Amino acid sequence: MKFFIDTGQLNEIKQANDWGLIDGVTTNPSLIAKANTTIEELIPRIVEIGDWPISVEVTENHYEGMLQQGRDFTKYGSNIVVKLPMTPDGIKGTRTLAAEGIKVNVTLIFHPIQGLIAAKAGATYASPFVGRLDDIAHSGMELIRDLVNIYDNYDYPTEVLVASVRHPLHVVEAANLGADVATIPFGVLQKFFQHPLTDAGLERFLRDAGKQP
Ligand code: G3P
Repeated sequence: MKFFIDTGQLNEIKQANDWGLIDGVTTNPSLIAKANTTIEELIPRIVEIGDWPISVEVTENHYEGMLQQGRDFTKYGSNIVVKLPMTPDGIKGTRTLAAEGIKVNVTLIFHPIQGLIAAKAGATYASPFVGRLDDIAHSGMELIRDLVNIYDNYDYPTEVLVASVRHPLHVVEAANLGADVATIPFGVLQKFFQHPLTDAGLERFLRDAGKQP
């Protein structure tokens, strides 16, 4: 399973990359605004850190504008993935950009039929939002189960990219279901290291070795 980091913060990307934990980066307009930066400022700096896939979301809402912006994004590097929304224009744009050899991540997927449409259009990644579904008392993981099964049934190369991850169990459950990628906020990545028995065990080992914990 691949781990991407879901953030607009450069320091988080650097730290997670330094840990050797990440295979890519996803951003969205909200994360970029939260980091108080812009696509033009941020993306070239992420490109300097790693050659893994970097998803950059369009802010245009119509087909022609999406194509223009998406093609412009690819000038930042060969590892740029254009993120398009699950709308008629976004799906049409996915088909066009995919035919040009540009990788597309279709975002805002909340139903299996939307994931099927994304795969049929040639998306490299489909991003189902598990946390936001859980928030409204729907099962995010049921969506992951459906998408993994549907893509497997038809040998679609589209990867299931689990987004809106809120805690480590989301990642474990998605891994059990065979999801290809999880995009994970930095705070959740940090939690991967935390277990009270790990802390207690380490403390005892260090004490027995005559070292300060
Ligand atoms: O990048 C899309 C997704 O991961 C956003 O997550 O927490 O805003 O639902 P969240």
